[in-house]
Amino acid sequence: MQLKIAILAGDGIGPEVTREARNILSAAAEAGGHNFTFAEALIGGVAITAKGTPLPQETIDIALDSDAVLLGAVGDNKFNALSPDKRPEAGLLQIRQVLGGFANLRPSVACPALSDNSPLRPEVTKGVDILFVRELLGGLYFGQPRSWNKQTGEAINTMRYTKAEIVRVARVAFELAGKRRKKLTSVDKANVLEVSQLWRATVTEVAKDYPGVTLEHQLVDSMAMHLMNVPRNFDVVLTENLFGDILSDESGIITGSLGMLPSATIGGKVNLFEPVHGSAPDIAGTGKANPLGAILTAAMVLRYSAGLEQEAAAVEAAVQHVLDAGYRTADIARGNTAGAVTTAQMGKLVHSALAEAIDRSQSLHAV
Ligand code: IPM
Ligand code: MN
Repeated sequence: MQLKIAILAGDGIGPEVTREARNILSAAAEAGGHNFTFAEALIGGVAITAKGTPLPQETIDIALDSDAVLLGAVGDNKFNALSPDKRPEAGLLQIRQVLGGFANLRPSVACPALSDNSPLRPEVTKGVDILFVRELLGGLYFGQPRSWNKQTGEAINTMRYTKAEIVRVARVAFELAGKRRKKLTSVDKANVLEVSQLWRATVTEVAKDYPGVTLEHQLVDSMAMHLMNVPRNFDVVLTENLFGDILSDESGIITGSLGMLPSATIGGKVNLFEPVHGSAPDIAGTGKANPLGAILTAAMVLRYSAGLEQEAAAVEAAVQHVLDAGYRTADIARGNTAGAVTTAQMGKLVHSALAEAIDRSQSLHAV
């Protein structure tokens, strides 16, 4: 198969981790006789520096002309004084809008090899496999009006959703839950917010079309607590944009590091893939970044944009294999930073594990 992938590496550790993810995509393509092509484009702080805007038109064109967009990270402290619409992050929010994907899938799966990395006890994290479905194009991030009036000292953001926006993301979540453990937890703040009351009523209505899936509602504050207390109780978690942003970072505690978490955004013109972590400017260029979030994001490219489920699973297995063998980047080294491998070394290790697994399966076929 053919797949055109736009690489928007962005700022900080973005280029380092996307390099490793791209190598893995190339390896998977080569093994399966597929033709993946890559086009690089600027986003975020590097785009502001080079072109004066966090999302140049050229980047939009390249992204819209591709089958999948793989993004590293955006954000650079150099631009902290700029207003939100001029900062590197504005480029990310705008590309999300341009590509149109509204369902951001953020899996949080506890990995046995890393069970001692979580501050939660192993018996709490054991077997945790949650899929967050974060609505990505609505809510406080995009609602109008928004402003900061420096004269009056008043600032406004608006949480707004239409029923149609809730229905479409709820359907994605119910479909996914139907293929998993058939439980959907919808998270809102319906005891205070009208938007959440609409959210709850709408999700309840959509649930009638999915009788095989059990629906429960949780308020976001108590959800934040349950997530640390009994994470195994959750299968698919559906929520609005800001709540999903917060809860998905919180779930990094379950896996032991935010650096492990991948994401895929589906439902629009072109799927967008980005690790959950940020640009981590403090460790950029030091080789300390964990590329596994980006590599697991590459697996999601294979699964959701290439339809190559076996290859996606092979990449995930290669990551497990390397962790089982004891290799760790600094963020998951638990104090043993001297024994940690670099970003590039970790990428190579996963690459070798993947190549060995492919060789094994090819020699099986040959027999
Ligand atoms: C994320 C990030 C972004 C968000 C920022 C960088 C705009 O935190 O993808 O979770 O808030 O969505
Ligand atoms: Mn976030």
